[in-house]
Amino acid sequence: MKFFVDTADVKEIRELNDIGLLDGVTTNPSLIMKAGRDITEVTKEICGIVDGPVSAEVTALDFDGMMKEAEVLAKIADNICIKVPLTFDGLKACKALTTEGRKVNVTLCFSANQALLAAKAGATFISPFIGRIDDIGINGMELIGEIRTIYDNYGFQTEILAASIRTVNHVKEAALIGADVATVPPATLKALVKHPLTDKGLEGFLADWAKTGQKIV
Ligand code: E4P
Repeated sequence: MKFFVDTADVKEIRELNDIGLLDGVTTNPSLIMKAGRDITEVTKEICGIVDGPVSAEVTALDFDGMMKEAEVLAKIADNICIKVPLTFDGLKACKALTTEGRKVNVTLCFSANQALLAAKAGATFISPFIGRIDDIGINGMELIGEIRTIYDNYGFQTEILAASIRTVNHVKEAALIGADVATVPPATLKALVKHPLTDKGLEGFLADWAKTGQKIV
């Protein structure tokens, strides 16, 4: 499974990318707001750090507006992936942009039928929002499973990008169920390394090491 990081925080992106953990980045208007930076400037910097696709989201709601914004965003760097919302106009923009050879991430997906439409419109990525579905008392992970089955039934090449990931279990379950990519907030990505038995084991080794009175350097 590929890992994207879901942030516009350049420091976090650089740190995770340096360890080789990142296959791409996703941003959205809320994450740009959180970063407190100009969208063009911060997106250009991110594109220079990570080799893989960097999703930058349009904010227009109509097809013409989306296409105009996509043109501006696409000029930022070669690895820009245009993010469009899962609306009728978003699907139109998806089809037009992918026909031009652009990568497109269709975002705000909350149903298998929406995902089916996005694949038909040629989406490079479909982003089902697991956490936000869980928030309303429905199991978000089931949606990932449904989309996996539908895409496999018909051979759609659209990659399933598990989004709105909130927990380390979301990452594991998304991997087990067959998501192609998970976009994960930096803190959750870092939390994947944690295990109490690793900490306990380390503690024991260090206690015994201290008793030897030795030093390696
Ligand atoms: C995906 O591309 C979105 O940016 C993101 O995963 C949304 O997550 P949230 O529900 O935590 O805002």
